[in-house]
Amino acid sequence: HFASLVRVPGDPILSLMEAYRQDRNAAKLDLGVGVYKDAQGLTPIPHAVKLAEQRLLDSELTKTYVGGHGDAAFGERLSQLVLGANSPLLTEQRAGATQTPGGTGALRLAGDFIRHCLPGRGIWLSAPTWPIHETLFAEAGLKVGHYPYVGADNRLDVEAMIAALAHLPKGDVVLLHACCHNPTGFDLSPRDFKRVLEVVKARELLPLIDFAYQGFGDGLEQDAWAVRLFAAELPELLITSSCSKNFGLYRERTGALIVCAGDADKLVDIRSQLAYLARNQWSTPPAHGAAVVAEILGDAELRKLWQDELESMRLRVASLRRGLVEALAPHGLSERFAHIAEQRGMFSYTGLTPVQVQRLREEFSVYMVGSGRANVAGLDATRLEQLAAAIARVCG
Ligand code: LMR
Repeated sequence: HFASLVRVPGDPILSLMEAYRQDRNAAKLDLGVGVYKDAQGLTPIPHAVKLAEQRLLDSELTKTYVGGHGDAAFGERLSQLVLGANSPLLTEQRAGATQTPGGTGALRLAGDFIRHCLPGRGIWLSAPTWPIHETLFAEAGLKVGHYPYVGADNRLDVEAMIAALAHLPKGDVVLLHACCHNPTGFDLSPRDFKRVLEVVKARELLPLIDFAYQGFGDGLEQDAWAVRLFAAELPELLITSSCSKNFGLYRERTGALIVCAGDADKLVDIRSQLAYLARNQWSTPPAHGAAVVAEILGDAELRKLWQDELESMRLRVASLRRGLVEALAPHGLSERFAHIAEQRGMFSYTGLTPVQVQRLREEFSVYMVGSGRANVAGLDATRLEQLAAAIARVCG
């Protein structure tokens, strides 16, 4: 049966985690997978999460299945976090969340939904984008295309993006990153988003907004600005939300697909399809992470604690960005890498070439994705000079 089966390369991001774990160099530096690390190099469980887990341990009465759309309190509270507490979409029951195994599960459910319910529609991704977007939508059976986003000069090219969107087939799906663009860290400005919205309207495109880093860009509310603009201006919208980074719940696989529809009745139709598709993928979603999020968002004290912890993660990453550019100054490289301080979120498209990335790994045990993406959130203030010196060596 298996004789003709061939081996495929490991995942470009997850395989870095394994290689890093096996590296015995004490000075190794992990800037690969998008995971936040504190000053001790640990990925902590937020205190708010720990407290919520303790409460759940005491109060949980059953392990029976949650329903096909998952934990209802989670869905409601997460939708409010994403769309705004007073969003008319929620009061009019025009938006609803389906809980998924992480943001990746939400993307996969969106991909299945498009193929199943909107046959023939292609999906358009930014070039570059998160590599799993490419394979996930192809695996879901969609025709995948690209629009320009960051060019070879490592700059955001909004004009090229808008020009390309203006020529997409009417009705196709366009994937946008709400904030903290993965992998580049280059985000659209509010003005850019407004221009994109106009093209989306003119071409009758369906946006799928990937919202995996709420709270890591400019703040929880600020990061939701574009999502809320699109939700207010368009009758229909798909949003994938992840609690992996902002709640530090990575392995608990906690996320949701939020669908906005023209009216409450249509939303019920759509949700019936989503429940069917989810049932045939994972049946019902994992309960724990969603229960934690529901507990935190539903309790003023825990919510405040979580928001403060998230804000300190955000500020720490922003200061590491500035710190790295400063550490590159003595090497005469602060101008060349000035963009690192301007980018948003965990990631930076450094502009380093695949060969330079390979040298960083082989000669200095610095791990980053081959595209030149560095996870700035994996850095530590005491290691900035070490990293700057290594970068200077491979750029020399
Ligand atoms: C990343 O891009 O590193 C994160 O989104 C984690 C992942 O699943 O790849």
